[in-house]
Amino acid sequence: MTAWCREALEALDRADPLARFRAAFQLREGLVYLDGNSLGALPRRTLARLEQTVAEEWGEGLITSWLGAEWMTAPRRVGDKIARLLGAEPGEVIVADSTSINVFKALTAALSLRPERSVILSEAGNFPTDLYMMQGIAAFSGGRVRAEAVPGEAVLDRLYEDVAVLLLTQVHYKTGRSRDMAEVTRRAHAAGALVVWDLSHSAGAIPVDLNGAVADFAVGCGYKFLNGGPGAPAYIFAARRHHAAVVPVLSGWFGHAEPFAFEDGYRAAEGIERFLCGTPPVLGLTALECGVDLMAEADMAEVRAKSLQLGCVFMDLMDAHCGGFGFTLVSPRDDARRGSHVSYAHPLGYGIMQALKERGVIGDFRDPDVLRFGLTPLTLRHVDMLEAVLTIREVCETRAWDDPRWAVRAAVT
Ligand SMILES: Cc1ncc(COP(=O)(O)O)c(C=O)c1O
Repeated sequence: MTAWCREALEALDRADPLARFRAAFQLREGLVYLDGNSLGALPRRTLARLEQTVAEEWGEGLITSWLGAEWMTAPRRVGDKIARLLGAEPGEVIVADSTSINVFKALTAALSLRPERSVILSEAGNFPTDLYMMQGIAAFSGGRVRAEAVPGEAVLDRLYEDVAVLLLTQVHYKTGRSRDMAEVTRRAHAAGALVVWDLSHSAGAIPVDLNGAVADFAVGCGYKFLNGGPGAPAYIFAARRHHAAVVPVLSGWFGHAEPFAFEDGYRAAEGIERFLCGTPPVLGLTALECGVDLMAEADMAEVRAKSLQLGCVFMDLMDAHCGGFGFTLVSPRDDARRGSHVSYAHPLGYGIMQALKERGVIGDFRDPDVLRFGLTPLTLRHVDMLEAVLTIREVCETRAWDDPRWAVRAAVT
C-alpha cells in the first residue's frame, strides 16, 4: 500500500500550485516540520533583510532611520498588509506588542464601549493567556468587571444582557475547531455584546473576513502562520467605527496624537495608531514584514484548499497505519469546522511526541494528552504526511516513547 500511496501523494505535490513556496523557506532536507502553527519556519529573505536592517539602517543610519528607513511607519505599514489577509481595511490593523497585551487593549476598549455591562465572557479551555487577561482585568476593576468562562458549546447561550464582550479564539489552539465568525458575531451583537476574536491560528491559515462578519476587535500572533520569527510582534484590529470612541487604557506615548509634541496630557491618535503603546520593536517588525509579504504572495483560497487536503490525507493515513495504537482524533473531521492543525489525544502523548521529534517529525504536545500537528501549506508536501504517519507508527511499534528521559516534562512542550 505504501508504494502506490507515496506515488499518489507525489503526484499531488507535482500538481500543487503552492509547491514553489517551500524553497522560499530554510528547512533542512528530511525534516517534517508540523509546528508552523506554533513557530513558523524562517523565510530565506528574512535573513538578508535583517542583516540590512541591522548593518545599514541601525549600524549606519542610527537614529535617522526612524524616518529614513521608515521605522516610524512600520507598525501601520505591516498592519495594512496583515489587514488584507484578514478582510480588514487599511488603517484598521496595527502591529504592536504581544497578543496578550493586545487582548488586554481590545477587552478594555470593548468594556469602555459597554459601560453599563459587567461581564467578559469566554469559553473554558480557551488559550490560557486570553483567560488570564480577562481575570487580570476583573481583579483590577475592583468588582466592576467579572470574568466568566463557560463550556464551548454553551457560550452563545450565556449571552445575557450583562455581557459586555465575548472573547473567543476562532481556531481553537488545542482542538483546531474553527468557529463561524459571522454567525457568532451576529449572535453577540443581537445580545448587545461586542466580540474580540483571537486570530492567532487563523491569520495566514484560513481565509478571514473581519469586515464581512462586522467584527469589532481582533488580535493575533505574528510568529505562527505569518512566519514573523520567535517572539514576533502581534497585531490588533479595531473596526473603524469604534476608533473615535475608544480611549486606550494603555495610553503610551506612541499612541498619542503627536508623540513628539511631548505634551504632559494624553491625547489619543486619530485612528488605529491609538492602539500603539511604546516604541515599536523594529527588528521584530522587519522580520514579520518579510513573513507577511511572502504570505501575501499566496492565494488564500489555494492555501485553504491545500491545508484541508493535507489534513484529510493525514487523518486517513492515521486511520490506515495507526488505527490500533490508541489515538483519538480531537479535531473535527468536517472540513468546514477545522482550522489548519490536526490533533490527537493519546495517554502516552508526551513521550510519543518527544520520540517523533528525535526522528525529525516535529509537532508539539499540549497538556494533558494532546499531540498537535500543524499543517502549513507553504512549506509542507503531501508526501510529508506519509513520512509523519509512518514515523508515528514506528514510534508506537518500537515503544520508542518509553524512555526515562521523558519522565519529566520539559519547560516547552
Ligand atoms: C490562541 C492564542 N492566543 C495567544 C497566544 C500567545 O500570546 P502571546 O504572543 O502574547 O504569548 C497563543 C500562543 O500560542 C495562542 O495560541
